[in-house]
Amino acid sequence: MRTVKKKILIVLGTRPEAIKLAPLIIEAKKNSAFEVNVCLTGQHQEMVRQIFDFFEINEDYNLSIMRPNQTLGHITSSILCELPAVIDKVNPEIIIVHGDTTTSFAAALCAYYSKTKVAHVEAGLRTWNKYSPFPEEINRKLTGSISDFHFAPTNLALSNLIKEGVPKDKIIVTGNTVIDALFLAKNKIENNKYESIQFDPLILNKQIVLITGHRRENFGDGFLNICKAVRNLAIRYKEVQFIYPVHLNPNVQKPVYEILNKDSNIHLIPPVDYKEFVFLMSKSYLILSDSGGVQEEAPSLGKPTLVMRDTTERPEALKAGTAKLVGTDANEIEKNVSILLENRDEYKKMSSAKNPYGDGLASKRILEMLEKS
Ligand code: UD1
Ligand code: UDP
Repeated sequence: MRTVKKKILIVLGTRPEAIKLAPLIIEAKKNSAFEVNVCLTGQHQEMVRQIFDFFEINEDYNLSIMRPNQTLGHITSSILCELPAVIDKVNPEIIIVHGDTTTSFAAALCAYYSKTKVAHVEAGLRTWNKYSPFPEEINRKLTGSISDFHFAPTNLALSNLIKEGVPKDKIIVTGNTVIDALFLAKNKIENNKYESIQFDPLILNKQIVLITGHRRENFGDGFLNICKAVRNLAIRYKEVQFIYPVHLNPNVQKPVYEILNKDSNIHLIPPVDYKEFVFLMSKSYLILSDSGGVQEEAPSLGKPTLVMRDTTERPEALKAGTAKLVGTDANEIEKNVSILLENRDEYKKMSSAKNPYGDGLASKRILEMLEKS
């Protein structure tokens, strides 16, 4: 029987990492095989705190690196300078990172420098286009090439890793931990008969288009086009309510607040906590987003999602028929939203609930493999 606990260090920095690693942190803390240490890089501040508060978890270390309108170089170099001291202090057997942020890549590189094993959650997503999404495609490839254990959310992600020469016995298909998180949030919403903290039923009972956006490759013209499309749609469909929790990145805040503050059916709000966002998704008629996580959650909720990107590393939702790539051309966005608002048959085709991303047990599978390793 194992008496010495396996020491793990979970490093994360942004909102989606917090959402997708929260169920793993909760499970690992319940499991007597592990000593769990959590380090926030602080790449995001408010948007991670919201998520940690919702899941009732805390960090052991916080590098607090965030600066307003930070550069990729700032994020990478600050983590490379600050994280090694935490690794030295904790001396973990395994460092766990998630996905494709600059925190994931820089933390994996620090782990490599200290010759600590790396476990990569949400491994193997690819578009095969190094600038789309930018810089996530390269972040996840570099993280993958350093990692010792690869937790692929789907069979497609597994086959991507095998194509790149990763040994099969170092990969397991786990499902995506975002579904674990979604189930936790849905339980809390249903058990507490949750009501929105942002909107009264008069608004929520109307048709809702929920919007999110933050991708670096969409800065500039991309965001101007997205805003133009939303404004035109709000003018054309006055009864439809456009709800947009605006990402805190200044490159997003500036165009969105400048262009979309004029119409009473456009509701710009700060980012909301996970429970409120899942609630808003469940109330929405359709979703317009460039987010990775939203593409995984929306099919489970049966919400048609128009993906405002040219590529996606999550083609499973396209194949399931619940998501469609529309890019950032204003006419294309307007055309596709109009089709879903006006054509019941098209809407029905996209709105059946399908879930290609997991069964809510991904965190358990990850911990089983780590315990055996
Ligand atoms: C980051 C990730 C991206 C991920 C996204 C999720 C990188 C390079 N990018 O992009 O992969 O999809 O998070 O949201 O890793 N800010 C705040 N408070 C916060 C968070 C952000 O004020 O809580 C502002 C700051 O001015 C910050 C800026 O947003 O400098 C940009 O943050 P950053 O993490 O660099 O980029 P994101 O677009 O959030
Ligand atoms: N989300 C949230 N509050 C919001 C907007 C989004 O909790 O106001 C959640 C959403 O449910 C999803 C995640 O944030 O799980 C997506 O994060 P983001 O779009 O920032 O990053 P990406 O997934 O594109 O990396």
